[in-house]
Amino acid sequence: MKGTQFTHRVLARTLMRLLIAKTMVGVTPTISSGGGSQTVVIFRDFLVRLRGKRLMLVGDSMNRNQFESILCLLREGLRNKSRMHEIHGHKISKGRGYFVFKFVDYDCTVEFVRSHFLVKEGFRINGQGNSNPTLSIDQIDKTSKRWRRADILVFNTGHWWTHGKTARGKNYYKEGDYLYPKFDAVEAYRRALRTWANWVDKNVNPKKQLVIYRGYSSAHFRGGDWDSGGSCNGETGPVLSGAILNNYPQKMKIVEEVVKEMQVPVKLLNVTRLTNFRKDGHPSIFGKKVSTRRQDCSHWCLPGVPDAWNELIYATLLFNT
Ligand SMILES: *[C@@H]1O[C@H](CO)[C@@H](O)[C@H](O)[C@H]1NC(C)=O
Ligand SMILES: *[C@@H]1O[C@H](CO)[C@@H](O)[C@H](O)[C@H]1NC(C)=O
Repeated sequence: MKGTQFTHRVLARTLMRLLIAKTMVGVTPTISSGGGSQTVVIFRDFLVRLRGKRLMLVGDSMNRNQFESILCLLREGLRNKSRMHEIHGHKISKGRGYFVFKFVDYDCTVEFVRSHFLVKEGFRINGQGNSNPTLSIDQIDKTSKRWRRADILVFNTGHWWTHGKTARGKNYYKEGDYLYPKFDAVEAYRRALRTWANWVDKNVNPKKQLVIYRGYSSAHFRGGDWDSGGSCNGETGPVLSGAILNNYPQKMKIVEEVVKEMQVPVKLLNVTRLTNFRKDGHPSIFGKKVSTRRQDCSHWCLPGVPDAWNELIYATLLFNT
């Protein structure tokens, strides 16, 4: 038994070094299908470690991206690829915010719960009778009733905090019944994360559950932003040097600060630097519903960068048990 574990560790370490090295130099980690290869052994072992458990990814569409990646990885571990299904028969689409994939032979589920901010979105009717969105930074998102049931939770939030209304912060952020006429988005992010941290500390049993926070995934827009004509098409290699590699957003410093104060130990998947390299890894013009004017330089092509994040989750399980 010990010997097997040792082999797993060595294999996992080797594989992870390889994957991360590949990610950094821009070779998309490929997963060889067909039985017998070491990657298949690894993903089968990943399934074994998930046996009887519920793994839940909670967050925005970057976490949906990671969710799709983990489904692909685990599928590699299946001998019969039909032995997994979405329990309600749902196809993955942007419109839906909740998916449960069951891996029948391992009695485990991999789930995605959409929660853009982790705290509660709402709306108010303004003076003109129009409905405007609000964000209650002191209340946990209503999807949290689902989170409680998971054995392994993987959270993220970040990208939505740079969108227009969130960044401007006008008549948007709420605490209690009070709507701030103007509020700083960075401070709002800090308070929202504290609300999340309190929820975790109150509701998670660290003896039985594992909480992971996946760090900020960098976007690579040239000549504009996601909503103002920024692009990333035609990139054929990673960034190999330059200041961009050292980008570490203030949001991540806030995450570190909040996580440090928590009672429940949270594993921080510190993937930001790893993503900084990969300006060539985004769907760009090949994304869904994008035009040449609006490219997707935030999400990742699969197989690709999020596979490495999931490898890190596997490593966490491996070294935790
Ligand atoms: C694969 O699994 C499906 C669904 O359970 C089953 O119908 C099928 O017979 C299996 N195929 C093999 C070769 O075992
Ligand atoms: C995360 O990685 C960044 C480099 O991108 C580093 O500056 C930071 O200290 C790391 N944080 C933790 C908690 O390891």
